[in-house]
Amino acid sequence: MSLRRAKISIIGAGNVGATCAHWCAAAELGDVVLLDIPQTEDMPRGKALDLMQSSPIMGFDSSIIGTNSYDDVAGSDVIVVTAGIPRKPGMSRDDLLNTNARIVTDVAEQIKACSPEAIVIVVSNPLDAMVQQMWRVTGFPPQRVCGQAGVLDTARYRAFLAMELGVSVEDISALLMGGHGDTMVPIPSCTSVGGIPVTQLIAADRLSEIVERTRNGGAEIVKLLKTGSAYYAPAAACAQMAEAVIRDKKRVLPAAAYCDRQYGVGGYYVGVPVVMGAGGIERVIELELTAQEQKDFQHSVDAVKSLVATMDGLLSA
Ligand code: NAI
Ligand code: 2OP
Repeated sequence: MSLRRAKISIIGAGNVGATCAHWCAAAELGDVVLLDIPQTEDMPRGKALDLMQSSPIMGFDSSIIGTNSYDDVAGSDVIVVTAGIPRKPGMSRDDLLNTNARIVTDVAEQIKACSPEAIVIVVSNPLDAMVQQMWRVTGFPPQRVCGQAGVLDTARYRAFLAMELGVSVEDISALLMGGHGDTMVPIPSCTSVGGIPVTQLIAADRLSEIVERTRNGGAEIVKLLKTGSAYYAPAAACAQMAEAVIRDKKRVLPAAAYCDRQYGVGGYYVGVPVVMGAGGIERVIELELTAQEQKDFQHSVDAVKSLVATMDGLLSA
């Protein structure tokens, strides 16, 4: 019998990466490799050692190593890509485009060479363009490359709805679609509180305010932190997606997934509900949208397409 633990590599040992390593190890999803660029020298090793030393207290047996070498990433089952620069106050996600597109291209080449069977979860921003680039450069089947945004965005929405209603977050189920940005589309018909449609509990104008706060959820944290962007909830979102793959959970989650004929997108990564399991994005769920939802979704898809076109222009300059 040859049983082995899953291997999860996290590229970028910054705020999201290190926190993701923490959640993954604490949940014993597998052994964790935390990689950062050589310029960061011993930083990933220091964070990994610190996390390892929490294991006797927290009671987990995952091993965590820090490294600057892709040799240690070889043969990974799941790779979470957080490499890049985060937003500073006043910056939009799109301001990150040029720098992060080059970083993600480099990371994708390394992943392709060292872990050709991995399932890749991209986090770096602007997310929808970065995941598209990861897929193109690795050449992996589209179901093995996806982006984390929807789990975070819906978690923010669910947290705000729970705060509004004074109920448990566990009882709130919600769906947002489209790109990770100002054009994300709420789907009220798929948002419920203990099975009760949210529209029966919150007036339409108040619900719109909560959606707007969700759209600006990332910027709200940037404004408060001043030195970077959110990382606890983003890292938890990545760990949930990694768990869906490693434990073959068939979770129904919102993720940036490759859509061609689905929703008539035509070959781009956008936020849609999917089934996630051992195969990665095993299925894109196609919902019947109202005319307004379809219009808003199309607007969001157009924004993603224009972001990818801008990225392509920058990369070829
Ligand atoms: P951070 O600055 O704390 O960490 C980024 C790390 O990436 C740094 O340690 C840096 O040295 C490393 N890095 C840079 N180039 C690299 C390369 N070529 N290979 C490996 N590592 C490299 O930033 P943070 O807060 O962890 O955010 C990371 C990225 O994730 C940002 O682009 C941010 O905008 C994005 N993000 C996306 C979210 C989403 O929902 N999709 C949520 C939160 C953050
Ligand atoms: C967020 O939504 C920065 O995209 C990141 O917090």
